[in-house]
Amino acid sequence: MKPEKREKRDAAAIRSKANSAKTTKKDSENNPKQTTRDQPAGVLGSKMDRRGFMKTATAATAVVGASAVALTSIKPLELYTSTSSTSSNQQTATVDPFAAQTVTLIVNGASYAVSVEPRDMLGNVLREDLGLIGTKRPCNRGECGGCAVLIDGVVHYSDNYPAIRLGNGQQILTVEAGVGAKNPDPVISALQQAWVTEDAGQCAYCAPGMIMSAAGLLKANANPTVAQIKAALSGNICRCGAYIAIIAAVQAAATSLQGTG
Ligand code: FES
Repeated sequence: MKPEKREKRDAAAIRSKANSAKTTKKDSENNPKQTTRDQPAGVLGSKMDRRGFMKTATAATAVVGASAVALTSIKPLELYTSTSSTSSNQQTATVDPFAAQTVTLIVNGASYAVSVEPRDMLGNVLREDLGLIGTKRPCNRGECGGCAVLIDGVVHYSDNYPAIRLGNGQQILTVEAGVGAKNPDPVISALQQAWVTEDAGQCAYCAPGMIMSAAGLLKANANPTVAQIKAALSGNICRCGAYIAIIAAVQAAATSLQGTG
């Protein structure tokens, strides 16, 4: 393009832009509601005006304040006051629901009197109060199965089982009940031996939980299928991915127990 032509074209473009800006300004002056930036359409896009908003906000603040006063005037213990009546008088005893209680836990055939608070989970009590550190807590929130123990023959995750519920003669079995125990549990012992012969533990951190879940299965079903073994261990995670060897170990333990039975 020749220089003079380019100059003409640029001048025309500048004139056109200036006209367009004038038109836009005029439109916004005539229709102020169209520019939401200059004048928002009420609070949070609603039609409420400023006076209405102030009234609503004041009322809401009063409600919240009244609720807070009501809550702070409640003392926790008052919620748990129990009343016992006799023929002649009435007695009121205050029970602290958060207080520690002494419970007798039966673990691997031995009795332990331990002081536990309602928030104490069995896994913590086993490891920290009884020194039974065979039970692991890899996730500590009921997701990996590493803390599995047997309570009356049923698999439970000890990381979320309150120990305070276990003072009524329930039989707790941990992985320490196997090889080396005073009276070894035959199923747990067979599984531990099979874990070694089948090389089922790569890092073996999951092994205690896996073995206890498998023990729960073999105690209920002496000859499980592979599908039943997979279902029984479905709540247990092995981060090394040694599942094939783990299933083989459960099968080997089942076979050895049938041979001894
Ligand atoms: S530690 Fe209990 S399920 Fe993971």
